[in-house]
Amino acid sequence: MESVDQILKQALVAIAACEELSALDELRVQYLGKKGQVTSLLKTLGSMEAELRKEFGQAVNRAKGELAEALSARKRELEDAVLNSRLATESIDVTLPGRGQERGGLHPVTHTSQRINDIFSRLGYDIATGPEVEDDYYNFEALNFSPDHPARAMHDTFYFGDGRLLRTHTSPVQVRVMQQQGAPVRIIAPGRVFRSDSDQTHTPMFHQVEGLLVGETVTMADLKGVLQAFVNAFFETSLAMRFRPSYFPFTEPSAEVDIAWHRGDDKESGWLEILGCGMVHPNVLKSCGIDSEKYIGYAFGMGVERLAMLRYGVADIRQFFENDVRFLRQFH
Ligand code: FA5
Ligand code: MG
Repeated sequence: MESVDQILKQALVAIAACEELSALDELRVQYLGKKGQVTSLLKTLGSMEAELRKEFGQAVNRAKGELAEALSARKRELEDAVLNSRLATESIDVTLPGRGQERGGLHPVTHTSQRINDIFSRLGYDIATGPEVEDDYYNFEALNFSPDHPARAMHDTFYFGDGRLLRTHTSPVQVRVMQQQGAPVRIIAPGRVFRSDSDQTHTPMFHQVEGLLVGETVTMADLKGVLQAFVNAFFETSLAMRFRPSYFPFTEPSAEVDIAWHRGDDKESGWLEILGCGMVHPNVLKSCGIDSEKYIGYAFGMGVERLAMLRYGVADIRQFFENDVRFLRQFH
């Protein structure tokens, strides 16, 4: 009986002093495991007299129960300590203000491009694309620019060392589409173009949307009609629009189109050029393998930023590329 008491006392002291869950489990095995100290006391029961056996058995079982209880109580204490220290180090201050979520928005040039694409898609135009890095053939030669043509100088071209160049307009996509699919054609080709040029209405990178329609009975009146329909749909109001005779090697006749603008009670007003256009030159049809006796076409190339300037009343095109968030936020 004394040994039961002694073992129990020792065990309770060890349990109370235990600081680790793993060490506590070792104590459990040491006392209550199959070969544990308390368990082995029960093995001596067989050699005892009946009277003693009963008393001793009860004492051992009491000790067992007391130990099991002490173990699980200590276990809870140690688990709570672990949790508390985690809560203390990972504390969250729920009174801090939230980080908030700002809503993003599309860039005004993206809005404008999508608007142009939507209008021409409704008019039955497919969308085509071409590479931004081109060579002389697609950007100039196939578009009827002879090697020493003076119009090449007007393009302020960025050249790579190997003769390739950054396309100066989206017109090379006309050539690629006609060579690939032949006639008839009805496409627009939106994309980025590049010229060494910068002032209030010019940036070195800007966006154009090319248009090309080739068929058997196409006239300049069709071209004017589709451009007027586009301008009406784009601005949702009737703005003055003028066709100015112009020159491009790849169209004949050619024109440029300007839109009237005014600011502040008409104190300031003027015309802004939005696009170039014309009837596809027969030499271009020929260099694309299309019968220029049978087919005729019109083409146009519009400046997306210029249309955005007019629609939003932006006076300097360079604002679109400064990425001042205060400016951009206005277009959400
Ligand atoms: C052309 O680029 C011709 N490829 C357009 C064309 C296509 C004519 C098909 C005939 C048939 P132009 O260089 O004028 O033409 O440019 C067309 C439009 O792009 C201009 O009207 C203007 O709106 C815009 N643009 C031209 N240069 C810049 C620039 N540096 N920054 C912003 N927009 C520009
Ligand atoms: Mg022009």
